[in-house]
Amino acid sequence: MAHVVFVDSTAPTLTALETAKEMGHFVTFIRPADASALKLSSLSRERIESAEKSVDQAVVVDRLEADLLGALRRIHAERRIDALLTTSELAVIPTVRAAEELGIRATSTLSMETAVTKDLCRDSLREAGIRSARHFRAEIREQAVEAARSLGLPLVIKPSRSAGKEGVAIIREERELSDYFDELPSSRRAMSQTVATLVSTRLLMEEYIEGVLHSAEIIANDGDIEVFMIARREQATNNPLYEVAAVLPAGLTDVEQREVKEYMQEIFSRLGLTVGVYHVEFIMSGDGPVLVEVNGRIMGGMAPFVYRHITGLDPFRLLVQEHLGEKPHVPRPPFGSAGISIALGSVSGGILPDGVEEQVEKVKQKYQPLASSLNLRSGQRIPKQLGNFTVFGFCCLPAETTEQARARGLELISDLENVLGFDIAKYAL
Ligand SMILES: Nc1ncnc2c1ncn2[C@@H]1O[C@H](COP(=O)(O)OP(=O)(O)O)[C@@H](O)[C@H]1O
Ligand SMILES: [Mg+2]
Repeated sequence: MAHVVFVDSTAPTLTALETAKEMGHFVTFIRPADASALKLSSLSRERIESAEKSVDQAVVVDRLEADLLGALRRIHAERRIDALLTTSELAVIPTVRAAEELGIRATSTLSMETAVTKDLCRDSLREAGIRSARHFRAEIREQAVEAARSLGLPLVIKPSRSAGKEGVAIIREERELSDYFDELPSSRRAMSQTVATLVSTRLLMEEYIEGVLHSAEIIANDGDIEVFMIARREQATNNPLYEVAAVLPAGLTDVEQREVKEYMQEIFSRLGLTVGVYHVEFIMSGDGPVLVEVNGRIMGGMAPFVYRHITGLDPFRLLVQEHLGEKPHVPRPPFGSAGISIALGSVSGGILPDGVEEQVEKVKQKYQPLASSLNLRSGQRIPKQLGNFTVFGFCCLPAETTEQARARGLELISDLENVLGFDIAKYAL
């Protein structure tokens, strides 16, 4: 029995704690009171309590940055920690920093900081001659205008560290850059406190890469990487920054998959990412894959449900095994099935009509989702979608092939639009 310690969690990845218990380990869960990713969703107190009850030891620390190391030092002295990991973006750097301090196997702090700080990551790739979008840093408007002249339009502007699309914009005309800076102070004020602790004020401007957005799920495996899934990300037609769905597997050819693996291996070797499971976003461009960002944690949201459906394997099992240095056996493509995880966002916002409960039930009967979160009531006000944090529901569907998954996703959205009475964000087939 090993001692597995989780630092924080998102709502959907709480099941990772239960997986680690099922694997027979002694499990400790540390929840930061100030900056927990659990605060980003409307999770019931009971769900958190039941997750805390499912583990052997639950510890609350007041402040993630300041108190984590001290708490871990005490825990480690009492029972040696074998694996220290997190599924929360907010805790990625504090966790590797603590691991390094305590001598627990993990990627080095310097490597992790370079990987997840978007401008430092691009600097590093560029220096090594690895394909990357051209980029500039900007702190003030004048620098940004100058950078835009060098980069050309369209371009992407984003905080050097962020999540959930906060502060990210596609700039197609010079005027939009000016608007971006005008709105910067108010958009920062509107950010939840939890998100604001992560989002940096340093801005990165980069070349807009044309192509289809994808993500690769990667086990670092002591530097000899294992790409265990590639997903296609469906961008909303009303705003490409909103992600409507993740389709697993992506449906890339063998040649394309090999190209992705080689590119990711170059990136991981350059950055020195040696331990952990990573969710890496990239665009398939005409010149091959181009990195969007490295996330120092496993895939989030409902994607793990879809992965389990396709392979029969719980991805959190891979996560725990990887941190224990166990070299898990990973199912390889071609996979015999596919699936889609859909995030439902309302284009305009609206009030749900009478009888919506039964109608939604009928839609569920028709599609038999693998998992869903569609707690909708008549008269409920649904907000207009403003980003990843303002979706009103999730639904995961099984399918036989990638193309069938993509088509079924749009059919479900269309059926739900008829029931709910407003437009839902869609993607193009
Ligand atoms: N260089 C780029 N070219 C084209 N689209 C981009 C580029 N960088 C980011 N994007 C788009 O913006 C989205 C958010 O950017 P990302 O760096 O992933 O920020 P976040 O950390 O908020 O997810 C991406 O999912 C992608 O759709
Ligand atoms: Mg992203």
